[in-house]
Amino acid sequence: MTKTTVSAPANIAFVKYWGARDLDRALPLNASISMTLDRCVTQCTIETLAGDQDEIWLAEPHGGFSAPGPEFQRRVRQQLDRMRQWAASEQRFRVATRNNFPIAGGLASSASGFAALTLAAAGALGRGDTPIAELSSLARRSGSGSASRSVLGGFVEWPAGEGDRASPAMQIADADHWDLRDVIAVVEIGPKAVPSLEGHRRAPTSPYFARRLELLPERLAKVRRAIAERSLDLLGPVLEEEAVDLHLIAMSSRPPIFYWAPGTVAVLRTVRELRQEGLAAWATMDAGANVHVICDAAAEEDVAERLESMEAVGFVIQDSVGSGPQTDDEHLF
Ligand code: DP6
Repeated sequence: MTKTTVSAPANIAFVKYWGARDLDRALPLNASISMTLDRCVTQCTIETLAGDQDEIWLAEPHGGFSAPGPEFQRRVRQQLDRMRQWAASEQRFRVATRNNFPIAGGLASSASGFAALTLAAAGALGRGDTPIAELSSLARRSGSGSASRSVLGGFVEWPAGEGDRASPAMQIADADHWDLRDVIAVVEIGPKAVPSLEGHRRAPTSPYFARRLELLPERLAKVRRAIAERSLDLLGPVLEEEAVDLHLIAMSSRPPIFYWAPGTVAVLRTVRELRQEGLAAWATMDAGANVHVICDAAAEEDVAERLESMEAVGFVIQDSVGSGPQTDDEHLF
């Protein structure tokens, strides 16, 4: 019985994937750009098993294992089937995953989870040396499109592709290029009300959806340039426009989706105050209530201290740009 363990990081999107031209194949309607995180990771151990059943476990933070819910099990089995088909193998597996950050709260747990699962399964199938572009496409097929970005470190663009053709994600700058920080204000823990998949499905019903698509080429160009020039002044406003538009579209979809909590608004207000006081800090959110505050290293401690002092904030995670997934020698079981 051989074991493979991979840790894969979460990522925070600067330009969001929201809306698909083919949801079953996770073909997006627009290109997205993200920063891969360093500390927020999912670890996945896969062991080959004799027999004809996969076993799927969640590793608990303080030891022990529990059985995940049926939807999670279904998606993991589906991805394992896809990986077996890809490798022309019948091999069954024992799989355990552990997240070191709150799951399903808009902190991209599916992206890191499916990136880790895909890479660990490729390793367990003896295909660990597959080119990263192919692994990115396999991670995307899990249904969590943003997982295609989490297989890479640094700053990552996932192009939209064209028609039937998907595109893998590509690194546009490595982790050492720009020392950005992500101070995450956790205002709500627990699964979000509506999964991203459903959000993508409803997005085109918003009257603002088409307008955002029109605005995106310019936003994407600005974000690419901001990264190339390491300019937070250029990046910051686009970050907030993108986050607000994502939620505007969600709130005006039919039926509407409200991801924000009261704490979300409180944190957004504090971020504005911090800027008025002279700190360059900019907010973004994925499909959840928690707020990622992007700033440079010099501002990080002040930003974290201020967010931590807020009643609305449960806790703060201080993260930075990570170099991508890694293979671990220590296994979860
Ligand atoms: C708002 O379909 O990749 O985070 O499976 O929940 O990770 P998950 O979602 P996915 O959509 C991502 C939606 C987003 C924006 C983004 O990360 O690009």
